[in-house]
Amino acid sequence: MFSHETIEKNALLLLVLTLIVIAIGGIVEIVPLFTIETTVEHVKGVRPYSPLEMAGRNIYVREGCYVCHSQQIRTLKDEVERYGHYSLAAESMYDRPFQWGSKRIGPDLARVGGRYSNDWHYGHLHHPQALVPESLMPRYAFLAETRLDYSLIEKHLTTQRFLGVPYTDEDITNARDDLLIQANVQADQEGVLKRYPKAVAVPGRPGFPTEMDALVAYLQVLGTMVDFADLGVEKLQQ
Ligand code: HEC
Repeated sequence: MFSHETIEKNALLLLVLTLIVIAIGGIVEIVPLFTIETTVEHVKGVRPYSPLEMAGRNIYVREGCYVCHSQQIRTLKDEVERYGHYSLAAESMYDRPFQWGSKRIGPDLARVGGRYSNDWHYGHLHHPQALVPESLMPRYAFLAETRLDYSLIEKHLTTQRFLGVPYTDEDITNARDDLLIQANVQADQEGVLKRYPKAVAVPGRPGFPTEMDALVAYLQVLGTMVDFADLGVEKLQQ
């Protein structure tokens, strides 16, 4: 239509054509998001985070753990052998914002849940080099001294619901109790487990949930929601 020279010599024409190209690129990126509800397949087991896990996730984001850790196992043989079944889109459907990350200074954490005991995580966060001498990971001991601020937990869940995470009124009314119960391994977990199957109780000090308790509860659920045996996939050796 136009020779390249005509376009390059006519600033207005160049601008208009540039805008058209950008608009096409934008539409291609944005339109699929309108159909996200139907594109992401629901997978049995995937559930919203429990209030304690959600609070822990906020600590994970605040501390920038994603700078060194990805949460996305790619469909490559070596990754699957090391980390377990590759990540499914549905597994991060309630992650807002998702934590796929792009750097792996440390290992991928998408399936770290259940791989270590609670005690291991507390010890490791406290002083990584005590457990893994060559570790580059910073110490996060202060998290165990910092009381978790959960004063806005109901509002937080309500906001997540506004964004499309299916928290029920019951989940929101019980948020505070559920958080304190999950942070106390001695407490009866029945209600928490009914609302949030597979939630892992952590051995916090009763009535004094710390940021580390929340973070460990979050780490312990990562990648455990979907039972791959249910999907007809053999459980991979870890
Ligand atoms: C400077 C980079 C860096 C940062 C920041 C960092 N880590 Fe790590 N992390 C590592 C490295 C390296 C390892 C591997 C050695 C080890 O186990 O300590 C690791 C290991 C881990 C492991 C064990 C994973 C496995 O499969 O063995 C967990 C869990 C973990 N980190 C959680 C966290 C959390 C939670 C945060 C944020 C509070 C965090 N890390 C921040 C570098 C980092």
